[in-house]
This record gives sequence, structure tokens and C-alpha cells, in this order.
Amino acid sequence: MEIDRRAFITTLGGTTAVGLMSDEAKADALEEFMSSRLNEAVAMQQAPAAQTFPSMAELQAQIETRPTRRGVGNLFAARTGNVKRLDPMPKAPRLVDFFTMRFNGTSNHCLQSATKALRSGMSEEVVIACLLHDVVQEIIKVDHGWWGAQLFEPYISEKAAFAIRYHQALRFYADPANGYEYPDLYRRIFGHDYRPEPYIEHTYQMVRKHKWYGEARMVTVNDLYAFDPNAQVSLDVFVDIIGRHFKQPKEGLGYDNSPVAHMWRTIERPDAPL
Ligand SMILES: [Fe+2]
Ligand SMILES: [Fe+2]
Repeated sequence: MEIDRRAFITTLGGTTAVGLMSDEAKADALEEFMSSRLNEAVAMQQAPAAQTFPSMAELQAQIETRPTRRGVGNLFAARTGNVKRLDPMPKAPRLVDFFTMRFNGTSNHCLQSATKALRSGMSEEVVIACLLHDVVQEIIKVDHGWWGAQLFEPYISEKAAFAIRYHQALRFYADPANGYEYPDLYRRIFGHDYRPEPYIEHTYQMVRKHKWYGEARMVTVNDLYAFDPNAQVSLDVFVDIIGRHFKQPKEGLGYDNSPVAHMWRTIERPDAPL
């Protein structure tokens, strides 16, 4: 298989990012690059000639065909059938308990993303941002970058929270030099004719010039737009990074009187009627 050297370096975030990687990380990244290109080649052979995506008007027309809105969090609506009873959480719940007991709809995606970031030699702050970037979608999907950053802000660095908050806006803007293309997934879920709202555009313009643009951009570069149900991922690999970058409150998440404690309690107890 022939390797497109430039494309490979681009997927790793450019020559600067490559310069920071260990030889082992580079070898792993090369292997992953080759296998993903192989999968793409196979998919191209099997895919229909042209992909079609819905328009915004077609997606709008679907709103009244559903019992829930598209922005509802995973914990509050079952995709099929009824919601399931949740196990009670420990008295002083930790982040890892939320991963294993409440983030069931988002943890695999986030673990895949953090694994990709770890393998490509990203900084630990980028890895933790990738690990946490979408889990707030358990309570709400709309504006999940802002909600997610707020949920984690008291417990992680300002830079990691910045990356989580702004990945939401950056994902609509291609940055080929850093290895990010606009994903087909968004043509499918937002409509092929979607243009980001002005607040997203303004946010993008601000972040583009910010000193932490690279961190936020790397969350989008390590995001995965094709869910791989067979990917082998484990939270164990991240326990040390969580220990170094997440300030676990001793009273437990939800019970530390922080300004976001109620958000953690909501995730813990989504069956509470009021
Ligand atoms: Fe996201
Ligand atoms: Fe994501």
C-alpha cells in the first residue's frame, strides 16, 4: 500500500505535532493510518455512486414526527422501546463511576476519541478534553460544547475546558492544514444546505485567533465521525490521566456545593420527577 506522506502528517496535526511524538506513537499512528485508508478503499468500492443528504427543510419537516426533540439527552429518551432502570450510584460518586454507570450512550465515542488522541501523542490536556468532550450529551445535546465545558469547568484546567467548549463551533469549519475536513455526518444531520448560525461563526472567528486554538482544534481532529462498534476501548488506560487532570471532589460529584453540582445530580438521578 502506498503512503501519502503529506496526508499522513496532516492527520497527525502537522509537522509540529509529529515532532512532539515518540517513535512508538509514530509507528502506531502509521499503522492506524494504513488500516483506515484500507477501510476507506473497501468502503468506496462498496458505496453507491453518489451519496445524498437531506435538506434543512426536509429535516425540519421531521420535527413533528417524533415524540422527543433532537436536542434531548440520551438519559431521558430511549432510542427504541422504553428507558431502563438505572443502578444506584455510590455515595460519593467519582468521574469513573459516571463513565461506567451513566455515560453509556457517549462513553464509547469519547473513549475512541481519547484513544486516538493518546496514540497520536497529543498532550494530556487534549486527551482529557477528548475523553470528556461529548459526555454532557447524556443530559442535553443542543449547544453541548458550552454545556460540557460548564459541567467540567470546576474540575479541569481552563485550557481543557476551552477545548471542550469550542470544539462545537470549530467542527463546522474545515482546517485541512491541521487534518480536519467538514464531515459528511453533518451534511446528514444538519442538512446539506446548513450554514452555521451567526453566534457559531462569531465564536469560530474568536477561537481561530486564540492562543488555545490548537487544543480546541485537536478535539475536532480526534473526534470520530464514523462510529465503530467493534473498537476495543477501555477507561483503564485513562485512569492516571484523570487523576492528574481532574480534581475529584471528596464529597463526590453532585455533593460538593459547586455551581454545577445540580448538573451531576441530574445525571445521577434522571428519574426524579421534579
Ligand atoms: Fe461534540
Ligand atoms: Fe464527538
